[in-house]
Amino acid sequence: MTTCFIGIDVSTTAAKALVIDDAGTVLAVASTEYPFDTPRPLWSEQHPDLWWNGTVQSIRQAVDRAGISPTAVKGVGLTGQMHGLTLLDEQGQVLRPAILWNDQRTGAECDEIRARLGKARLVQITGNDALTGFTAPKILWVRRHEPDIYARVRHILLPKDYVRFRLTGQYATDRAGGAGTLLFDLARRDWSPEVLEALEIPAEWLPPTHEGPEITGHLSAAAAQATGLPEGTPVVGGGGDQAAQAVGVGAVQPGIVALTLGTSGVVFASTGEPFVEPEGRLHAFCHAVPGRWHLMGVMLSAAGSLRWYRDTLAAGTDFDTLLAPAAAVPPGSEGLLFLPYLTGERTPHPDPLARGAWVGLTVRHTQAHITRAVLEGVAFGLRDSFELMKAAGLSRIDQVRVSGGGARSALWRQILADVLDVELVTVTTTEGAAYGAALLAGVGGGAWPDVDTACAQAVSITGTAAPQPEQAARYEDFYHQYRALYPALKEISHHLSRLA
Ligand code: XUL
Repeated sequence: MTTCFIGIDVSTTAAKALVIDDAGTVLAVASTEYPFDTPRPLWSEQHPDLWWNGTVQSIRQAVDRAGISPTAVKGVGLTGQMHGLTLLDEQGQVLRPAILWNDQRTGAECDEIRARLGKARLVQITGNDALTGFTAPKILWVRRHEPDIYARVRHILLPKDYVRFRLTGQYATDRAGGAGTLLFDLARRDWSPEVLEALEIPAEWLPPTHEGPEITGHLSAAAAQATGLPEGTPVVGGGGDQAAQAVGVGAVQPGIVALTLGTSGVVFASTGEPFVEPEGRLHAFCHAVPGRWHLMGVMLSAAGSLRWYRDTLAAGTDFDTLLAPAAAVPPGSEGLLFLPYLTGERTPHPDPLARGAWVGLTVRHTQAHITRAVLEGVAFGLRDSFELMKAAGLSRIDQVRVSGGGARSALWRQILADVLDVELVTVTTTEGAAYGAALLAGVGGGAWPDVDTACAQAVSITGTAAPQPEQAARYEDFYHQYRALYPALKEISHHLSRLA
Protein backbone atom coordinates (compact mmCIF):
# COMPACT_ATOMS: atom_id res chain seq x y z
CA MET A 1 0.00 0.00 0.00
CA THR A 2 1.24 3.54 -0.80
CA THR A 3 2.40 5.62 2.13
CA CYS A 4 0.95 9.14 1.99
CA PHE A 5 1.31 12.47 3.77
CA ILE A 6 -0.99 15.45 3.96
CA GLY A 7 -0.01 19.12 3.98
CA ILE A 8 -2.60 21.60 5.24
CA ASP A 9 -2.37 25.33 4.50
CA VAL A 10 -4.64 27.48 6.67
CA SER A 11 -4.33 30.65 4.58
CA THR A 12 -6.21 33.95 4.78
CA THR A 13 -8.59 32.93 2.02
CA ALA A 14 -8.86 29.12 2.17
CA ALA A 15 -7.95 25.90 3.95
CA LYS A 16 -6.10 23.71 1.48
CA ALA A 17 -5.24 20.04 1.88
CA LEU A 18 -2.72 18.33 -0.37
CA VAL A 19 -1.89 14.61 -0.49
CA ILE A 20 1.54 13.36 -1.59
CA ASP A 21 3.01 9.88 -1.78
CA ASP A 22 6.40 8.98 -0.32
CA ALA A 23 8.17 10.02 -3.52
CA GLY A 24 6.73 13.52 -3.15
CA THR A 25 4.27 13.17 -6.05
CA VAL A 26 1.09 15.20 -5.59
CA LEU A 27 -1.93 12.84 -5.63
CA ALA A 28 -4.70 15.34 -4.93
CA VAL A 29 -5.49 18.85 -3.74
CA ALA A 30 -8.68 20.30 -2.24
CA SER A 31 -9.40 23.80 -1.07
CA THR A 32 -12.26 25.31 0.95
CA GLU A 33 -12.57 29.07 0.68
CA TYR A 34 -13.70 31.40 3.44
CA PRO A 35 -13.96 35.18 3.90
CA PHE A 36 -12.32 37.53 6.38
CA ASP A 37 -13.98 40.50 8.05
CA THR A 38 -12.97 44.15 8.20
CA PRO A 39 -15.36 45.32 10.94
CA ARG A 40 -13.60 48.70 11.11
CA PRO A 41 -11.02 50.55 8.97
CA LEU A 42 -7.57 48.95 9.50
CA TRP A 43 -9.07 45.83 11.13
CA SER A 44 -8.88 42.30 9.73
CA GLU A 45 -10.43 39.38 11.58
CA GLN A 46 -11.53 35.80 11.00
CA HIS A 47 -13.31 33.26 13.19
CA PRO A 48 -11.17 30.15 13.93
CA ASP A 49 -14.17 27.88 13.22
CA LEU A 50 -13.72 28.75 9.52
CA TRP A 51 -10.20 27.28 9.62
CA TRP A 52 -11.33 24.09 11.34
CA ASN A 53 -14.42 23.49 9.22
CA GLY A 54 -12.46 24.26 6.04
CA THR A 55 -9.66 21.91 7.07
CA VAL A 56 -12.04 19.03 7.78
CA GLN A 57 -13.81 19.47 4.45
CA SER A 58 -10.58 19.79 2.46
CA ILE A 59 -8.98 16.73 4.08
CA ARG A 60 -12.03 14.62 3.26
CA GLN A 61 -12.15 15.88 -0.33
CA ALA A 62 -8.41 15.50 -0.94
CA VAL A 63 -8.30 11.93 0.39
CA ASP A 64 -11.34 11.10 -1.71
CA ARG A 65 -9.83 12.63 -4.87
CA ALA A 66 -6.50 10.86 -4.25
CA GLY A 67 -8.41 7.55 -4.28
CA ILE A 68 -6.40 6.28 -1.31
CA SER A 69 -7.45 4.53 1.85
CA PRO A 70 -7.28 6.98 4.79
CA THR A 71 -5.09 4.43 6.57
CA ALA A 72 -2.36 5.17 3.96
CA VAL A 73 -1.90 8.61 5.57
CA LYS A 74 1.12 8.42 7.87
CA GLY A 75 1.52 12.06 8.80
CA VAL A 76 0.04 15.54 8.62
CA GLY A 77 2.00 18.79 8.30
CA LEU A 78 0.57 22.24 9.03
CA THR A 79 1.30 25.62 7.52
CA GLY A 80 -0.69 28.82 7.25
CA GLN A 81 -0.98 32.55 7.59
CA MET A 82 1.52 33.83 10.13
CA HIS A 83 1.30 36.39 12.96
CA GLY A 84 -2.47 36.03 13.64
CA LEU A 85 -3.65 36.17 17.25
CA THR A 86 -6.00 33.43 18.48
CA LEU A 87 -7.04 33.70 22.15
CA LEU A 88 -8.45 30.73 24.09
CA ASP A 89 -9.77 30.40 27.65
CA GLU A 90 -8.96 27.69 30.21
CA GLN A 91 -11.26 25.20 28.41
CA GLY A 92 -9.79 25.91 24.98
CA GLN A 93 -12.79 27.97 23.87
CA VAL A 94 -12.17 30.82 21.40
CA LEU A 95 -12.55 34.20 23.16
CA ARG A 96 -12.87 36.54 20.16
CA PRO A 97 -12.32 36.42 16.38
CA ALA A 98 -8.66 36.05 15.50
CA ILE A 99 -6.81 39.27 14.61
CA LEU A 100 -4.98 38.60 11.33
CA TRP A 101 -1.52 39.38 9.92
CA ASN A 102 -2.91 42.14 7.67
CA ASP A 103 -4.63 43.99 10.53
CA GLN A 104 -3.20 47.51 11.02
CA ARG A 105 -4.79 48.67 14.29
CA THR A 106 -1.74 48.38 16.55
CA GLY A 107 0.42 51.42 15.70
CA ALA A 108 0.32 52.67 19.32
CA GLU A 109 1.17 49.22 20.71
CA CYS A 110 4.19 48.95 18.38
CA ASP A 111 5.45 52.25 19.82
CA GLU A 112 4.81 50.89 23.33
CA ILE A 113 6.84 47.74 22.60
CA ARG A 114 9.76 49.82 21.30
CA ALA A 115 9.52 52.03 24.38
CA ARG A 116 9.41 49.10 26.81
CA LEU A 117 12.40 47.22 25.34
CA GLY A 118 14.28 49.87 23.36
CA LYS A 119 14.26 49.35 19.62
CA ALA A 120 17.89 48.20 19.43
CA ARG A 121 17.37 45.51 22.10
CA LEU A 122 14.10 44.41 20.50
CA VAL A 123 15.83 43.90 17.13
CA GLN A 124 18.81 42.26 18.82
CA ILE A 125 16.68 39.61 20.58
CA THR A 126 13.82 39.01 18.16
CA GLY A 127 15.58 39.94 14.89
CA ASN A 128 12.69 42.28 14.08
CA ASP A 129 11.25 45.71 14.66
CA ALA A 130 7.65 45.96 15.89
CA LEU A 131 5.25 45.82 12.93
CA THR A 132 1.48 46.26 13.24
CA GLY A 133 0.89 42.84 11.66
CA PHE A 134 2.93 40.89 14.21
CA THR A 135 1.33 39.01 17.13
CA ALA A 136 2.81 40.77 20.19
CA PRO A 137 1.29 44.23 19.56
CA LYS A 138 -2.10 42.57 19.10
CA ILE A 139 -1.87 41.01 22.57
CA LEU A 140 -1.17 44.47 24.02
CA TRP A 141 -4.08 45.88 22.04
CA VAL A 142 -6.54 43.35 23.52
CA ARG A 143 -5.15 44.04 27.01
CA ARG A 144 -5.77 47.78 26.56
CA HIS A 145 -9.08 47.74 24.67
CA GLU A 146 -10.80 44.52 25.75
CA PRO A 147 -9.76 43.96 29.39
CA ASP A 148 -12.66 41.55 30.09
CA ILE A 149 -11.52 39.24 27.31
CA TYR A 150 -7.88 39.62 28.30
CA ALA A 151 -8.70 38.54 31.86
CA ARG A 152 -9.96 35.17 30.56
CA VAL A 153 -6.99 34.41 28.24
CA ARG A 154 -5.07 31.21 29.11
CA HIS A 155 -3.70 30.17 25.70
CA ILE A 156 -2.29 32.11 22.75
CA LEU A 157 -2.09 30.33 19.40
CA LEU A 158 -1.27 31.14 15.78
CA PRO A 159 -3.99 30.31 13.22
CA LYS A 160 -2.58 26.98 12.00
CA ASP A 161 -1.87 26.00 15.62
CA TYR A 162 -5.55 26.35 16.44
CA VAL A 163 -6.15 23.70 13.75
CA ARG A 164 -3.37 21.64 15.36
CA PHE A 165 -5.16 21.97 18.71
CA ARG A 166 -8.42 20.74 17.15
CA LEU A 167 -6.57 17.86 15.45
CA THR A 168 -4.52 16.68 18.43
CA GLY A 169 -5.75 18.40 21.59
CA GLN A 170 -2.18 19.70 22.03
CA TYR A 171 -1.10 23.30 22.40
CA ALA A 172 2.05 23.59 20.26
CA THR A 173 3.69 25.74 17.60
CA ASP A 174 6.57 25.54 15.15
CA ARG A 175 9.65 27.76 15.43
CA ALA A 176 9.21 29.54 12.08
CA GLY A 177 5.78 30.67 13.20
CA GLY A 178 6.94 31.40 16.74
CA ALA A 179 9.63 33.76 15.46
CA GLY A 180 6.92 35.79 13.69
CA THR A 181 5.22 36.69 16.98
CA LEU A 182 7.95 39.18 18.08
CA LEU A 183 8.13 37.22 21.37
CA PHE A 184 10.95 34.92 20.25
CA ASP A 185 14.64 34.83 21.02
CA LEU A 186 15.75 34.30 17.42
CA ALA A 187 19.14 32.76 18.20
CA ARG A 188 17.78 30.41 20.91
CA ARG A 189 14.79 29.42 18.74
CA ASP A 190 12.35 29.70 21.63
CA TRP A 191 10.25 32.23 23.57
CA SER A 192 12.28 35.10 25.02
CA PRO A 193 11.83 35.44 28.81
CA GLU A 194 13.19 39.00 28.55
CA VAL A 195 10.65 40.11 25.95
CA LEU A 196 7.77 38.37 27.75
CA GLU A 197 8.73 40.03 31.02
CA ALA A 198 9.14 43.47 29.46
CA LEU A 199 5.71 43.18 27.83
CA GLU A 200 4.15 41.53 30.94
CA ILE A 201 2.82 38.55 28.97
CA PRO A 202 2.60 35.31 31.02
CA ALA A 203 4.95 32.67 29.54
CA GLU A 204 2.49 29.89 30.44
CA TRP A 205 0.01 31.24 27.88
CA LEU A 206 2.40 30.29 25.07
CA PRO A 207 2.66 26.75 23.71
CA PRO A 208 5.80 24.57 23.57
CA THR A 209 7.78 25.09 20.33
CA HIS A 210 8.96 22.44 17.86
CA GLU A 211 11.13 22.17 14.75
CA GLY A 212 9.26 21.79 11.42
CA PRO A 213 9.52 17.98 11.00
CA GLU A 214 9.11 17.18 14.72
CA ILE A 215 5.95 15.36 15.83
CA THR A 216 3.86 17.64 18.05
CA GLY A 217 0.96 15.28 18.76
CA HIS A 218 -1.34 12.63 17.28
CA LEU A 219 -4.85 12.77 15.86
CA SER A 220 -7.47 12.50 18.60
CA ALA A 221 -10.50 10.21 18.39
CA ALA A 222 -12.76 13.24 17.82
CA ALA A 223 -10.53 14.60 15.05
CA ALA A 224 -10.31 11.15 13.48
CA GLN A 225 -14.08 11.04 13.37
CA ALA A 226 -14.31 14.54 11.87
CA THR A 227 -11.61 14.10 9.20
CA GLY A 228 -11.88 10.39 8.44
CA LEU A 229 -8.13 9.96 9.05
CA PRO A 230 -6.91 7.27 11.48
CA GLU A 231 -6.74 8.12 15.18
CA GLY A 232 -3.10 8.44 16.23
CA THR A 233 -1.85 9.88 12.89
CA PRO A 234 1.21 12.03 13.76
CA VAL A 235 1.02 15.80 13.22
CA VAL A 236 4.36 17.58 12.72
CA GLY A 237 5.36 21.16 13.56
CA GLY A 238 5.25 22.39 9.95
CA GLY A 239 5.97 26.08 9.50
CA GLY A 240 4.65 29.56 8.79
CA ASP A 241 3.52 29.91 5.17
CA GLN A 242 6.70 31.57 3.92
CA ALA A 243 9.02 28.97 5.49
CA ALA A 244 6.85 26.10 4.22
CA GLN A 245 6.72 27.72 0.76
CA ALA A 246 10.54 27.79 0.77
CA VAL A 247 10.64 24.08 1.69
CA GLY A 248 8.13 23.45 -1.10
CA VAL A 249 10.50 24.88 -3.74
CA GLY A 250 13.59 23.38 -2.12
CA ALA A 251 15.02 26.68 -0.83
CA VAL A 252 16.47 25.16 2.31
CA GLN A 253 20.27 25.52 1.97
CA PRO A 254 22.20 28.70 2.75
CA GLY A 255 22.81 30.56 -0.53
CA ILE A 256 19.45 29.55 -2.02
CA VAL A 257 16.79 32.25 -2.14
CA ALA A 258 13.07 31.67 -2.72
CA LEU A 259 11.41 34.50 -4.65
CA THR A 260 7.61 34.38 -4.68
CA LEU A 261 5.87 36.57 -7.26
CA GLY A 262 2.32 36.42 -5.96
CA THR A 263 0.03 39.37 -5.23
CA SER A 264 2.81 40.27 -2.80
CA GLY A 265 6.47 39.58 -3.54
CA VAL A 266 8.62 37.73 -1.04
CA VAL A 267 12.39 37.40 -1.01
CA PHE A 268 13.32 34.58 1.36
CA ALA A 269 17.01 33.76 1.96
CA SER A 270 17.88 30.61 3.90
CA THR A 271 20.77 31.06 6.30
CA GLY A 272 22.84 28.73 8.47
CA GLU A 273 22.90 31.22 11.33
CA PRO A 274 20.66 34.04 12.49
CA PHE A 275 21.29 37.21 10.45
CA VAL A 276 19.65 40.45 11.50
CA GLU A 277 19.29 43.71 9.58
CA PRO A 278 20.31 46.21 12.28
CA GLU A 279 17.35 48.54 11.69
CA GLY A 280 14.91 45.62 11.54
CA ARG A 281 13.96 46.51 7.95
CA LEU A 282 14.00 42.81 6.97
CA HIS A 283 12.18 40.05 8.83
CA ALA A 284 14.54 37.58 10.50
CA PHE A 285 12.75 34.35 11.44
CA CYS A 286 13.60 30.70 12.08
CA HIS A 287 13.35 28.41 9.04
CA ALA A 288 11.12 25.32 9.10
CA VAL A 289 14.40 23.39 8.67
CA PRO A 290 15.89 22.45 12.06
CA GLY A 291 18.81 24.69 13.01
CA ARG A 292 18.40 27.08 10.07
CA TRP A 293 17.10 30.61 9.84
CA HIS A 294 16.03 33.01 7.12
CA LEU A 295 15.94 36.65 6.21
CA MET A 296 12.87 37.92 4.40
CA GLY A 297 11.74 41.01 2.56
CA VAL A 298 8.06 41.48 1.69
CA MET A 299 6.84 43.75 -1.13
CA LEU A 300 3.09 44.29 -0.83
CA SER A 301 2.20 44.71 -4.55
CA ALA A 302 4.33 42.55 -6.85
CA ALA A 303 2.23 40.56 -9.33
CA GLY A 304 -0.54 42.59 -7.70
CA SER A 305 0.87 45.68 -9.47
CA LEU A 306 0.68 43.98 -12.86
CA ARG A 307 -2.85 42.74 -12.20
CA TRP A 308 -3.97 46.22 -11.12
CA TYR A 309 -2.37 47.75 -14.22
CA ARG A 310 -4.03 45.21 -16.53
CA ASP A 311 -7.44 45.51 -14.86
CA THR A 312 -7.34 49.31 -14.82
CA LEU A 313 -5.61 50.32 -18.05
CA ALA A 314 -5.87 47.25 -20.28
CA ALA A 315 -9.09 45.58 -19.12
CA GLY A 316 -9.97 42.45 -21.06
CA THR A 317 -6.40 41.86 -22.31
CA ASP A 318 -4.80 38.58 -21.29
CA PHE A 319 -1.37 38.77 -19.68
CA ASP A 320 0.51 37.14 -22.59
CA THR A 321 -0.93 39.63 -25.09
CA LEU A 322 -0.22 42.55 -22.77
CA LEU A 323 3.38 41.52 -22.04
CA ALA A 324 4.51 40.43 -25.53
CA PRO A 325 5.27 43.94 -26.97
CA ALA A 326 7.20 44.86 -23.78
CA ALA A 327 9.91 42.34 -24.73
CA ALA A 328 11.00 44.64 -27.60
CA VAL A 329 11.42 47.70 -25.33
CA PRO A 330 15.01 48.25 -24.17
CA PRO A 331 15.96 47.79 -20.47
CA GLY A 332 15.00 50.90 -18.53
CA SER A 333 11.94 51.50 -20.75
CA GLU A 334 13.66 54.53 -22.31
CA GLY A 335 13.79 56.39 -19.04
CA LEU A 336 10.43 55.41 -17.55
CA LEU A 337 10.30 54.20 -13.93
CA PHE A 338 7.39 52.66 -12.01
CA LEU A 339 7.04 52.72 -8.22
CA PRO A 340 5.01 49.68 -7.06
CA TYR A 341 3.74 51.01 -3.69
CA LEU A 342 0.07 50.58 -4.67
CA THR A 343 -0.97 49.32 -1.22
CA GLY A 344 1.73 51.10 0.77
CA GLU A 345 4.90 49.11 1.41
CA ARG A 346 6.57 46.82 3.97
CA THR A 347 10.18 46.26 2.77
CA PRO A 348 12.31 48.38 2.59
CA HIS A 349 9.96 51.24 3.49
CA PRO A 350 7.43 50.19 6.16
CA ASP A 351 5.02 52.94 5.13
CA PRO A 352 1.26 52.37 4.73
CA LEU A 353 0.96 55.80 3.06
CA ALA A 354 3.59 55.22 0.35
CA ARG A 355 2.07 55.56 -3.13
CA GLY A 356 2.76 54.25 -6.61
CA ALA A 357 3.92 56.33 -9.61
CA TRP A 358 5.22 56.29 -13.14
CA VAL A 359 8.04 58.82 -13.38
CA GLY A 360 9.69 59.97 -16.59
CA LEU A 361 6.82 59.83 -19.11
CA THR A 362 7.41 61.41 -22.54
CA VAL A 363 5.48 61.32 -25.81
CA ARG A 364 7.87 58.60 -27.04
CA HIS A 365 6.46 56.15 -24.51
CA THR A 366 3.95 53.58 -25.77
CA GLN A 367 1.83 51.12 -23.82
CA ALA A 368 4.65 48.58 -24.26
CA HIS A 369 7.01 50.93 -22.36
CA ILE A 370 4.47 51.43 -19.59
CA THR A 371 4.01 47.66 -19.27
CA ARG A 372 7.74 47.00 -19.17
CA ALA A 373 8.21 49.74 -16.58
CA VAL A 374 5.76 47.90 -14.28
CA LEU A 375 7.75 44.65 -14.59
CA GLU A 376 11.01 46.54 -14.01
CA GLY A 377 9.67 48.59 -11.09
CA VAL A 378 8.64 45.41 -9.25
CA ALA A 379 12.07 43.92 -9.98
CA PHE A 380 13.79 47.05 -8.59
CA GLY A 381 11.60 46.91 -5.48
CA LEU A 382 12.56 43.27 -4.92
CA ARG A 383 16.21 44.17 -5.44
CA ASP A 384 15.88 46.52 -2.45
CA SER A 385 15.41 43.41 -0.27
CA PHE A 386 18.50 41.77 -1.81
CA GLU A 387 20.53 44.91 -1.10
CA LEU A 388 19.39 44.97 2.54
CA MET A 389 20.34 41.30 2.84
CA LYS A 390 23.83 41.95 1.50
CA ALA A 391 24.21 44.90 3.87
CA ALA A 392 23.13 42.63 6.77
CA GLY A 393 26.12 40.40 5.97
CA LEU A 394 24.58 37.80 3.70
CA SER A 395 27.44 37.29 1.27
CA ARG A 396 26.21 34.18 -0.56
CA ILE A 397 23.32 34.25 -2.99
CA ASP A 398 23.99 31.41 -5.43
CA GLN A 399 20.57 30.80 -6.90
CA VAL A 400 17.07 32.23 -6.80
CA ARG A 401 14.10 29.83 -7.06
CA VAL A 402 11.13 31.72 -8.40
CA SER A 403 7.48 30.70 -8.00
CA GLY A 404 4.01 32.25 -7.92
CA GLY A 405 1.73 33.48 -10.71
CA GLY A 406 4.14 36.18 -11.97
CA ALA A 407 6.88 33.60 -12.49
CA ARG A 408 4.96 32.19 -15.46
CA SER A 409 6.26 35.10 -17.58
CA ALA A 410 9.64 34.32 -19.21
CA LEU A 411 10.12 38.06 -19.84
CA TRP A 412 9.63 38.93 -16.17
CA ARG A 413 11.99 36.13 -15.11
CA GLN A 414 14.69 37.49 -17.45
CA ILE A 415 14.17 41.07 -16.22
CA LEU A 416 14.53 39.80 -12.64
CA ALA A 417 17.71 37.86 -13.46
CA ASP A 418 19.20 41.02 -15.05
CA VAL A 419 18.07 43.46 -12.34
CA LEU A 420 19.20 41.14 -9.53
CA ASP A 421 22.26 39.95 -11.49
CA VAL A 422 21.77 36.37 -10.34
CA GLU A 423 20.67 33.05 -11.85
CA LEU A 424 16.92 32.51 -11.59
CA VAL A 425 15.45 29.00 -11.79
CA THR A 426 11.96 27.53 -11.92
CA VAL A 427 11.12 24.21 -10.24
CA THR A 428 8.73 21.30 -10.73
CA THR A 429 6.70 21.99 -7.61
CA THR A 430 3.97 24.62 -7.87
CA GLU A 431 1.72 23.86 -4.90
CA GLY A 432 3.58 26.20 -2.55
CA ALA A 433 3.31 26.11 1.21
CA ALA A 434 0.94 23.11 1.44
CA TYR A 435 3.51 21.07 -0.49
CA GLY A 436 6.29 22.15 1.88
CA ALA A 437 4.11 21.16 4.86
CA ALA A 438 3.50 17.75 3.28
CA LEU A 439 7.27 17.25 2.81
CA LEU A 440 7.83 18.15 6.48
CA ALA A 441 5.19 15.55 7.42
CA GLY A 442 7.06 13.05 5.26
CA VAL A 443 10.32 13.75 7.09
CA GLY A 444 8.53 13.42 10.46
CA GLY A 445 6.93 10.18 9.25
CA GLY A 446 10.26 8.67 8.16
CA ALA A 447 9.87 8.85 4.35
CA TRP A 448 13.07 10.93 4.19
CA PRO A 449 15.85 11.24 6.79
CA ASP A 450 15.85 15.05 6.73
CA VAL A 451 14.43 18.09 4.92
CA ASP A 452 17.47 18.47 2.64
CA THR A 453 17.03 14.92 1.35
CA ALA A 454 13.27 15.36 0.94
CA CYS A 455 13.78 18.52 -1.15
CA ALA A 456 16.64 17.03 -3.19
CA GLN A 457 14.46 14.03 -4.10
CA ALA A 458 11.11 15.76 -4.56
CA VAL A 459 12.01 19.11 -6.17
CA SER A 460 13.83 19.49 -9.48
CA ILE A 461 14.74 22.42 -11.68
CA THR A 462 12.74 22.96 -14.88
CA GLY A 463 14.30 26.08 -16.37
CA THR A 464 16.85 28.81 -15.81
CA ALA A 465 17.35 32.50 -16.67
CA ALA A 466 20.96 33.68 -16.48
CA PRO A 467 21.80 37.37 -16.05
CA GLN A 468 22.96 39.08 -19.27
CA PRO A 469 25.98 41.27 -18.40
CA GLU A 470 25.10 44.16 -20.74
CA GLN A 471 21.50 44.38 -19.53
CA ALA A 472 22.54 43.99 -15.91
CA ALA A 473 24.97 46.91 -16.25
CA ARG A 474 22.27 49.04 -17.90
CA TYR A 475 19.83 48.32 -15.05
CA GLU A 476 22.42 49.39 -12.49
CA ASP A 477 21.99 53.05 -13.52
CA PHE A 478 18.19 52.87 -13.56
CA TYR A 479 18.13 51.15 -10.16
CA HIS A 480 20.03 54.08 -8.63
CA GLN A 481 17.39 56.48 -9.93
CA TYR A 482 14.64 54.15 -8.68
CA ARG A 483 16.11 54.23 -5.18
CA ALA A 484 16.01 58.01 -5.13
CA LEU A 485 12.28 58.08 -5.89
CA TYR A 486 10.80 56.98 -2.53
CA PRO A 487 12.56 59.66 -0.45
CA ALA A 488 11.80 62.27 -3.12
CA LEU A 489 8.08 61.44 -3.20
CA LYS A 490 7.49 60.48 0.44
CA GLU A 491 6.16 63.81 1.71
CA ILE A 492 4.04 64.33 -1.39
CA SER A 493 2.56 60.81 -1.04
CA HIS A 494 1.71 61.42 2.60
CA HIS A 495 0.08 64.76 1.77
CA LEU A 496 -1.89 63.15 -1.06
CA SER A 497 -3.13 60.41 1.28
CA ARG A 498 -4.37 63.02 3.72
CA LEU A 499 -6.02 65.05 0.95
CA ALA A 500 -7.65 61.91 -0.46
C1 XUL B 1 4.59 36.76 6.43
C2 XUL B 1 3.24 37.31 6.19
C3 XUL B 1 2.34 36.62 5.25
C4 XUL B 1 1.23 35.97 6.02
C5 XUL B 1 0.03 35.66 5.19
O1 XUL B 1 5.36 37.60 7.23
O2 XUL B 1 2.82 38.29 6.74
O3 XUL B 1 3.02 35.68 4.51
O4 XUL B 1 1.76 34.87 6.66
O5 XUL B 1 0.24 34.88 4.13
